[in-house]
Amino acid sequence: MTVYQMPVWELQSLPGLAQVEVRLKEFSQGNDRLTAEFSAAVTDGGKRLRPALVLLCGAFYRAKQDVLIDLATAVELIHTASLVHDDIVDRAATRRGKPTLSKRWGEHQAVLYGDFLFARAFSLLSKHGLSGTLGEMTEAISLMCEGEIEQSSLLFNCDVTEAEYFSYIHKKTAYFLSACCLAGAEACGMPAAEKKLLAGFGLQLGYAFQLTDDLLDISGNAAGMGKPAMQDLKAGYLTLPLIKLLRDKRHGCAVRRLITEKDFSAANIQFIHQALTQCGILEETNEHAGLLLDRAKQNLGKLPLKPPRLLLTRLADYLSRRTS
Ligand code: IPE
Ligand code: IPE
Ligand code: MG
Ligand code: MG
Repeated sequence: MTVYQMPVWELQSLPGLAQVEVRLKEFSQGNDRLTAEFSAAVTDGGKRLRPALVLLCGAFYRAKQDVLIDLATAVELIHTASLVHDDIVDRAATRRGKPTLSKRWGEHQAVLYGDFLFARAFSLLSKHGLSGTLGEMTEAISLMCEGEIEQSSLLFNCDVTEAEYFSYIHKKTAYFLSACCLAGAEACGMPAAEKKLLAGFGLQLGYAFQLTDDLLDISGNAAGMGKPAMQDLKAGYLTLPLIKLLRDKRHGCAVRRLITEKDFSAANIQFIHQALTQCGILEETNEHAGLLLDRAKQNLGKLPLKPPRLLLTRLADYLSRRTS
């Protein structure tokens, strides 16, 4: 596994990512003994997609490197805070290949450490007085919570629609990726029209990213993902492939019954998996993610032809074939 867990070789030497790691170590702990232990949730593992987006989007024009590094650090702190809280809500036992903070230290500590990380992120963000970024980040966190609330209100609801799915993934995942792009753009003084293109890139990338995450939950390699497979369905999260399967003439009724009865025996899970494959739904969802990534790249295509544009394209290409 590479340092930043994204096998895009140019990213390994991206100026700033190594400094972000140092800053993450510093900002993920206080002066006490326990937050120093909890900080492994931040420092160990993680693809560092969001810091990479900040640094790359901030490289289109000249930006103060220390500001970019602080912004990149802050977004990873926000992201990890949201994961620590997400794992409480999802009752997840593993994250990034290790026991979740809530499993290891209890939900009480995990709630508090998530809050601690949000606060640390904002102490970094507020240092630089970038009002656009502060506004985007608070908006992104509000939307993340709204998206999670929407998603929770749809648990085990077999009538959930594709529109509802796209609404909550917009809020819980895509908007934040777009905000990371905009943070880099603001730091380097990017013109408004170009910022808009980057925001569009981040959104489409975010939809594709969540679609792939949901696909990997179904058919991914559990070891590579650092968490067990088919967790979403068992927890009642009916993601896009399941929404499509529930509309399928041949299997829809049977799958609806299993979900309503929460009858997730190994044989039933295998039946659902086979149905998803036979109906071509996994393939179709994968193609959908590919189309979204193409749209993301179309936005990039209209930006100035500079090195970060190429790297963002490579990043999008990697995300389309990621396995973790
Ligand atoms: C996981 O994000 C949460 C989603 C939005 C799907 P990542 O897949 O970027 O998680 P890490 O940071 O690499 O662990
Ligand atoms: C991602 O949601 C968490 C946030 C965007 C806050 P998921 O619950 O789908 O992510 P994983 O699969 O646990 O990483
Ligand atoms: Mg989760
Ligand atoms: Mg969740």
